[in-house]
Parts: sequence; C-alpha cells; structure tokens
Amino acid sequence: MKIRIEHSTKKTELLCAFTLENSNKITGLPKFDANTALSINQSLKDTNGKLGKLSVIHTSGKKPIKRILLAGIGKKEEITKDTIRAVSGKIAQKARELKMKEFSIIVPPSFVSEPDSGVAQIIEGAKMSLYRFDKFKSEKSDVVITLTIIVSKSSNILESAKKAEVIADGAIFTKSVANLPPNECTPTTLANFAKSISKNNKMKCKIISQPELRKQGFGGISAVGKGSKNEPKLIVMEHSRGRKNEKPIVLVGKAVTFDTGGISLKPGAAMDEMKFDKCGGCTVLGIMKSVSELKLPINVIGIIPSVENMPSGESYRPGDIIKLYNGKTAEILNTDAEGRLILADALAYGEKKYSPKAIIDFATLTGACIVALGTNVAAITSNDEKLTRKINEASKRTTEEVWELPLNQDYMDMIKSDVADMKNVGIGRAAGTITAAAFLKNAIETTPWIHVDIAGVAWTQASTKEKSYNPKGATGFGVRLILDYLQNM
Ligand code: BES
Ligand code: MN
Ligand code: ZN
Repeated sequence: MKIRIEHSTKKTELLCAFTLENSNKITGLPKFDANTALSINQSLKDTNGKLGKLSVIHTSGKKPIKRILLAGIGKKEEITKDTIRAVSGKIAQKARELKMKEFSIIVPPSFVSEPDSGVAQIIEGAKMSLYRFDKFKSEKSDVVITLTIIVSKSSNILESAKKAEVIADGAIFTKSVANLPPNECTPTTLANFAKSISKNNKMKCKIISQPELRKQGFGGISAVGKGSKNEPKLIVMEHSRGRKNEKPIVLVGKAVTFDTGGISLKPGAAMDEMKFDKCGGCTVLGIMKSVSELKLPINVIGIIPSVENMPSGESYRPGDIIKLYNGKTAEILNTDAEGRLILADALAYGEKKYSPKAIIDFATLTGACIVALGTNVAAITSNDEKLTRKINEASKRTTEEVWELPLNQDYMDMIKSDVADMKNVGIGRAAGTITAAAFLKNAIETTPWIHVDIAGVAWTQASTKEKSYNPKGATGFGVRLILDYLQNM
C-alpha cells in the first residue's frame, strides 16, 4: 500500500470519515448536493457513530468523490490510539472488499494534538489489516492500494507518517516470515532472511553453524538442534548507529522452526501450530529491519537461536545432562522444554559478548502462559524494575499488552536438580511460565533483563480478541512495542 499525505480533499473513489457516537457533525467533509447530504444524514442516524460500524454512501451525479464511507469511532471521550488503529483497519478492509485501487481518510482536527496525531495509528491500522498470508494460494487478489490521508497542516506529520510506515512494515515482515510453514522455513531460511535485511540496511550479520556452535560451547542450541537434519543456526545482527562506546540493547528471540516436542513428543492435536514456535525470532527480525531502516541513532544487537525440535536417532533425550554457554549444567527432564535451553545460550552469549545496557527476549515459551493470561496479554518477568516500567509505558502507547509475573528465589529453587545445576522443568504444572523464566534468569549475571512470553499472543488462536489489524495467523506482537521503547529510551 502506498501512503500519501494531503491537506485538502480532491478526487477520490472513496472518501472516508470518522463519525462520533451521538453526534451529527462530521468534521472535514466537503459540501455535497442535497441528495447526497440527505443520504449522509440518514446513514449517520443509522450507525450513530457506534465503534466499528461502517456505512457506504453513493454520491449522486458526476462527482470527483464517488463514494463516502462513514466509520464509527465511538464516544469522543473513549477514543484511544487502538480504536483509531482498529477502525482504520476496518476502513482499509472495506476499501479492498469494494475493490478500490485508491481511497482517502480524513483525519479529524481533534486527532491532531501533537505528538499523538492519530496519523501514525491510521497508517499502522490500515497497512497491517491489509496484510494477508497468500504466498501459497494460487489465486492472488492483491491490488496495489493507495491511501491518501487528508490532514490539516501541522508540523511533523510527514515524519511520523514515514515512521509509522516503516514500523508497520516491520510488523508485516515479522508476520510474513512467522506464517511460513515449517517445510519452507528452516533455521537456514531464517539465517538467509537475516542476511538479506542486514545487507539492505548496512548491518553486520554473523551466522554461527555446526561444528562451530559445539566448539564454542553452545550446548543448549547444539543439543536441541541435533535431532533434525535441518541444522541449528545462531543468527546475530548488529545495528551500530549509536556512539562507538555506547552500550547496546540486546534483543533475543526464540526461533524453533517446528516444535514436535522431540523425544517427549507432543500430542497430535494442533501440533501444526508449532510452526509458530519461531515467532520470537521473527519478532527480532522485524524489529531489526525497522530499526535499521529508521536509522535509529543507537546500538542494537539482534540474536536469534534457531533450531528444529525433532525426534530421531540423533535427538537429545530426557536424562541427558548438557552444559550451557555460561558453563552451567542442565538436566533434561523433558525435551519439549527446549526453548529455555536455546535461549539460555543466546542470553549468556549476548551478555558476555556485548556487555549490553539491557537484554530483552521474546519467546513462545510456555503453554502455561496461555492458562495464566489468555491470548491477548503477554507475560513479562524481569530482574529490573526500571526496565519493566519502560516496557510497561511502551505497552500502554502501542496497545501490545503485557502483565508482570513475580520471579523470586522460591521460583529459582523450583528448578534445582539433584544431579546438575538446574533441571529444564519445574515441579509438576505449578507456575510453568515463571519456572521457565527462572531458568532464563540463571543465564544472566548482572544485566537488566526482561523476558516476554508471547505464547498466547504471537498468533491468533480461538480465544484471541478480533482486531482488524491482526488478521488470522501470526500477529507480529512485540515489533511495535520494542520500536516504541527504543525510540523513547
Ligand atoms: N513452544 C512450547 C510452548 C507453547 C505451547 C507455546 C503451546 C504456545 C502454545 C514450548 O516449547 C513447550 O513445549 N513448553 C512446554 C514446557 C513443559 C514441557 C515444561 C509446555 O508449555 O508444555
Ligand atoms: Mn516445546
Ligand atoms: Zn517450543
């Protein structure tokens, strides 16, 4: 989709305006003939500006504006960034349904209180809601759509619009990689994606493969990866536009391209969804793409441990004891608790190699997370209050919701092993999300760290709240959250 910014309404196939609940005024609409004005009034009465209600009006006569779309945005005092995103998404989907090649949205002046112009949310909502995973459909229905945003003159609209486009593109990139089926996306495929976005945007990119992984002590990645003939990769991307000696932010993302559970094989029902077990890594890919395109003047490192967790004669087993990158040993009691093993390696590597300011990791880590928080809120656990506060603030601004779970010594005690430093599962089903986080915490020494368990939110599930900008499949959760955090550090 192409975005244009204009300051007045000209010719358009479909002119879209937001309408408020219980209000008969529409700001920004040009004057129409009596017949059209009558239809507009009738539509206003019918929909009454109710949130998400749309109505299309055909203008009469030969007009530079063919149709009008009124979109209810709800009560004035209840408008949020997210309602703007969601309704803009609905508008865009309607435009596509009507087979428009081009449409326009009027931004009401009340949205334009800097810096929250609303323009960014309109762009995010419209772009993200038009994304569709149709790579493997013979019939492609996409037409290039141009969106013209009509906004009264104001200072840095162009800049925030450009940013919003790059951010939405990052989230869309994450979705499009995360949606790939496991036969079309192996650790090597992900490494190639990382190489290509790095090349396009002047980032350094390093891929560590076997036998190097084993030699350098990545015991978690090596153990989990050895059951598959699709070899494990550790992907590292460096965006270095900050001061030379400025400590970077390290982002880590779990990328299990398919999680069968390994020897502790998962039951068959819904196992196909474990193609989404790479979503954490895909989130990091999308963030790095946008960070580099935005040329943010900071240092950011993206680290993606990627494996396929398969059962085979070469697989690691329950009972094995492995040595992680930081030298600590782990007793394997369930090969399905694989994410924490590959993340522990990557976190320890990130801390040792880069001495970062902060480490943030994303992972579809535990089914328990869905039991605890459902499918609209991610779980966060951290060793640092200030970092947690910053992430909570970014969460409020982006409506990528998070909720903190406790992580004290009692939980650390739950993963003590009789025969090794730790075991890779907790005690029964108690606090599964936190015991997984406790395992990760052991990989980090002193760096402020926050772990985001995205098991419930990384893709749309049966209980996922419907939002226009999150069509079926991967959601790209975390991309907007972290880009907001990075821009407001
Ligand atoms: N990738 C899964 C977690 C998961 C399951 C995410 C379902 C989203 C939906 C992870 O590797 C896993 O299998 N975790 C186990 C841990 C257990 C064996 C301690 C789980 O949650 O059951
Ligand atoms: Mn698993
Ligand atoms: Zn997994």
